[in-house]
Amino acid sequence: MLFSSVLRALPAALLISVAQSGPLEHKPRQSSVDAFIKTQADVSIKGVLANIGTDGAKAQGVPAGIVVASPSRQNPDCDIDWYTWTRDAALTYKALVERFIAGDTSLKQKLDDYVSAQAYLQGVSNPSGGPDTGGLGEPKFNVDRTAFTGSWGRPQRDGPPLRATALTIYANWLVANGGTTQAANTVWPVIAKDLAYTVRYWNQTGFDLWEEVNGSSFFTLAATHRALVEGAALATKLGKTCDGCASAAPQVLCFLQSFWTGSYIDSNINLNDGRTGKDVNSILSSIHTFDPESKCTDSTFQPCSSRALLNHKAVTDSFRTVYGINRGIAQGRAVAVGRYSEDVYYNGNPWYLATLAAAEQLYSAIYQWNKIGSVTVDSVSLPFFRDILPSIATGTYAKDSATYKSIISAVKTYGDEFIAVVQKYTPANGGLAEQFDKNNGSPLSAVDLTWSYAAFLTATERRAGIISPTWGEPANNVAPTTCTAPPACNAKITFNVRATTVFGENVFVVGQLTQLGNWDPASAKPLSASKYTSSDPLWTATIDLPASTVFDYKYIRKSSSGVVTWESDPNRRFTTSSGCGSTATVNDSWR
Ligand SMILES: *[C@@H]1O[C@H](CO)[C@@H](O)[C@H](O)[C@H]1NC(C)=O
Ligand SMILES: *[C@@H]1O[C@H](CO)[C@@H](O)[C@H](O)[C@H]1NC(C)=O
Ligand SMILES: *[C@@H]1O[C@H](CO)[C@@H](O)[C@H](O)[C@H]1NC(C)=O
Repeated sequence: MLFSSVLRALPAALLISVAQSGPLEHKPRQSSVDAFIKTQADVSIKGVLANIGTDGAKAQGVPAGIVVASPSRQNPDCDIDWYTWTRDAALTYKALVERFIAGDTSLKQKLDDYVSAQAYLQGVSNPSGGPDTGGLGEPKFNVDRTAFTGSWGRPQRDGPPLRATALTIYANWLVANGGTTQAANTVWPVIAKDLAYTVRYWNQTGFDLWEEVNGSSFFTLAATHRALVEGAALATKLGKTCDGCASAAPQVLCFLQSFWTGSYIDSNINLNDGRTGKDVNSILSSIHTFDPESKCTDSTFQPCSSRALLNHKAVTDSFRTVYGINRGIAQGRAVAVGRYSEDVYYNGNPWYLATLAAAEQLYSAIYQWNKIGSVTVDSVSLPFFRDILPSIATGTYAKDSATYKSIISAVKTYGDEFIAVVQKYTPANGGLAEQFDKNNGSPLSAVDLTWSYAAFLTATERRAGIISPTWGEPANNVAPTTCTAPPACNAKITFNVRATTVFGENVFVVGQLTQLGNWDPASAKPLSASKYTSSDPLWTATIDLPASTVFDYKYIRKSSSGVVTWESDPNRRFTTSSGCGSTATVNDSWR
């Protein structure tokens, strides 16, 4: 369509606003949060299913079990954002599996479609690597299941553990319901590959869930810990092995402790991003590792833990002053929540899924307190509780006490207020986009975001007391006192390059890995000319590099006076051999 080609040239913000309906002021408001939830839950499950192939209303022709992140650009003339993300799909399917277990048996075929679709995607080689060389960390694929080869923030290591979790919940249900053969033969092989990836790469940096920063992300590691714990248990149940799962899990939990600053979770470490680290990343981590059997454990940042409650305050407070629509809202009353306060994507706005996550943590905490039979207010969580109950003091309040009842009631009201914020900024047709405008509340960016709908479902299910089964948190929540990084698994790579040089000139290799100087000529690795002859101008070096890893590199020359000359483009690419201690040789000629 000509119309869409014209639109494509406009700034994204304008493009999206064309797709939106009129100003919010003209929309009918529903009277109560309960009434809103009733209608919006129906819109949300339909919204999720519409975005899943092959019969979803907005995913026609997309292969079965593939989740489209948003049908924003489904017009073939402007299909530039028409992708499936491993993370979004896994979180969506986690919500669907929970719903299936809670009684919606109509979802069975969709779950089986997901298993096959993911088994297929795990075999697709892509810029992050092949099936056994890091390719599972690729963030997104084209919806026809082919690799996306454009530049992107990759790898993202949260996809495999999140997918393993969604599938493990399903496999456990199958085992309990006469489907052990399907669990063992069809579902486990997919989980096993995700866990093998996770065991191998958890201690390497990658891009965060917002696809922006390359470091260690709290969300990725929290998902990793959970997946390894429940994956190891599932393996035992099925008579399979999960190499390294049981030994890596406590080490991941140990590492997770270092994200706690004393007053909030710093969501991204091992990088310099110039941010505070207050990020809804951490609230999403608490809700997706929620265990109904847990006792408010701080080490696993459970929704009702003192640390996670203080973090809830720190993160939500960080948005009080940055959004116009939050202005004038008193401390202790719910606000619109975004990703992180320094966000500049679409100028930085609140997101539906972030605001819903703030509600979901509170509902999950209420579930845990009711189960435990008491609430403990300590010096860490006191500021959180003081916001909503100014006269509260530290102490443990048993279920039959008046204070317990006022705490539960205040937390429930607070959670409902976050839902009311979403209600206020949801258009009349219930369509949930990705964001809503920080100054006027109108929907922004991708329309019908699958994750927004899934977030609505899980938040309101927790409110109704519908929960996911335990993942084994109570027996797996003690971190070792000293953290140990897993031993490096390196391959020996010999670089041979034929390069005719003049006296005083030296050849180096430089590239994308720390071991290759991260593209910095000053940190490039020298090659030796010990075998150099005029008929065979060989420069060579053998370097330890992480096994099964794809990387880009180039050779450079440095003259005797230090002048650096780079090889011509494009970059060279190589995948190291698999197996610790394995060897491989690359044979290049200077170009
Ligand atoms: C690897 O683990 C060690 C020990 O927990 C930790 O200090 C280090 O920051 C981790 N690095 C990455 C990139 O995960
Ligand atoms: C991410 O950071 C690591 C170092 O921690 C580096 O080796 C790697 O090249 C970086 N990746 C990208 C795509 O910048
Ligand atoms: C480089 O050459 C060696 C020996 O000549 C050979 O064994 C090796 O496979 C070659 N490497 C590649 C990547 O082709």
